[in-house]
Amino acid sequence: MTEKKTHRIIVRPTGVELRAPAGASLRDLLFEQGVEFPCGGQGRCRGCRVRVLEGTAEANAAQRERLSPQELEDGWRLACQCSLGDDLVVELRQWDAAILVDDTPFHFEPRPGLGVAVDLGTTTLVAQLVNLSTGKVLAVRTALNAQARYGADIMSRLQFAAAEDGRATLERLIRRQIASLITHLMVSAKVSGDEIRDVVLVGNTVMHHLFCGIDVEPLSHYPFESNEIGLQTFRASELEWNLNKASTVRFLPCLGGFVGSDILAGILATKLAKSLENVGLMDLGTNGEIVVGNQSKLYCASTAAGPAFEGARISMGMRAATGAICQVQVEDERLVCQVLGNVAPQGVCGSGLVDAVAAGLEIEAIQSSGRLGNGAKEWTLAEPVVLTQNDIRELQLAKAAIAAGSRILLERLGTSLQDLKMLYLAGAFGNYIRRSSARRIGLIDLPIDKVTPAGNTALLGAKLALFSLDGEDGSYTELRCRIEHVPLNADQSFQDIFVEELAFPSSTHVRS
Ligand code: FES
Repeated sequence: MTEKKTHRIIVRPTGVELRAPAGASLRDLLFEQGVEFPCGGQGRCRGCRVRVLEGTAEANAAQRERLSPQELEDGWRLACQCSLGDDLVVELRQWDAAILVDDTPFHFEPRPGLGVAVDLGTTTLVAQLVNLSTGKVLAVRTALNAQARYGADIMSRLQFAAAEDGRATLERLIRRQIASLITHLMVSAKVSGDEIRDVVLVGNTVMHHLFCGIDVEPLSHYPFESNEIGLQTFRASELEWNLNKASTVRFLPCLGGFVGSDILAGILATKLAKSLENVGLMDLGTNGEIVVGNQSKLYCASTAAGPAFEGARISMGMRAATGAICQVQVEDERLVCQVLGNVAPQGVCGSGLVDAVAAGLEIEAIQSSGRLGNGAKEWTLAEPVVLTQNDIRELQLAKAAIAAGSRILLERLGTSLQDLKMLYLAGAFGNYIRRSSARRIGLIDLPIDKVTPAGNTALLGAKLALFSLDGEDGSYTELRCRIEHVPLNADQSFQDIFVEELAFPSSTHVRS
């Protein structure tokens, strides 16, 4: 039997060197390097573009359809469509971005042993090993969700799950990946699995179902509700995880629709359910989640904001990684762009997009209708990065969805945004977005001292849950009784409010 030839791949700019047999898929190799495949590798979205600097990678029909002759000539390829036939040097258009961990101090009742808190996101995973008697974080690991090679967002993940063996594949992948993260945590903290007593996982409803082996079919169509959103508890041995025999693995309960236990954890972390005054929590992403209320009543909802806040579906959009314009300011009527990693600009990430549009409104390069001034089709931020009319439209759709969702919840609560005592912004985007720009584009119409970036509240909430068993079972039954999920897709007023919220506020409307 003849052995397959092995090829060498050098990945720029990371400098990582890989070896793989001829015919290996570039998708599988680059996924391990943090490259995302937004359409699940179907050759439709162009999101996985790489530039071949040395060597030859054949362009198949899908690539010839999606890439211009000039791009092909310049060496651009869709990584998801390439298999290895030569030694290559490739340059990644997107690469590893910072994943938000949590180091917020918290109060706790000491318990013996060690625990692991896991924030299981659609895109990223963060796990922390915690000493339950001191509250000290002993080790942290982050990773891209291994399921992401089968689709970057929730909907493409659901689509994959519907295919034969799809759900089982996703379940297997994520259970194995978390087991491996826990092993890495133990190795770096030099502890044994026997010392781990409790693992708490939080995530959105789709992640909850895919990890727990629950059918996701009800989440793939109207009314996007599942009946099996409660706490799920496993023995570590049942998952074939090498931990203490008595240790339990709990996936905390979801709140309804797509509002998962990451938001329940956010409520625990921000103490929303203990507030005497009205407060709110927002997690801005493709699926924007909103909670408003006080100690007696909380309303929550999720709204499909589209991927603009994550820099996706934007012509030169990218994740918040090296080369991304992350901040835009106006100085002497000129745009000043800050680029991550201090390199030449290559694209714009979500926070840069919000800033750029706020700046454009300020210097009237963009009108409040969202139109570019003088009928232009695109607007240059910093060569070669431009915003197109369509990019601005995507941001309008995202911000209108969030603003409409917030208004409906606040109406249920009998209050308005301006009367909130504090609004917490969860997650990476909430951490990096400039609050004044969010206000300028009408995403959050609140003075900036009433808006607080709250970091990774999902992870902090999961850690808190390691110390609180909430009575006997950890189901947070009493708290969940005070939280009402509002299905926005069934709300008659949503569409009208959404249309009202599409325009950007005129400058006179934005108070200081
Ligand atoms: S074109 Fe979408 S992942 Fe490759």
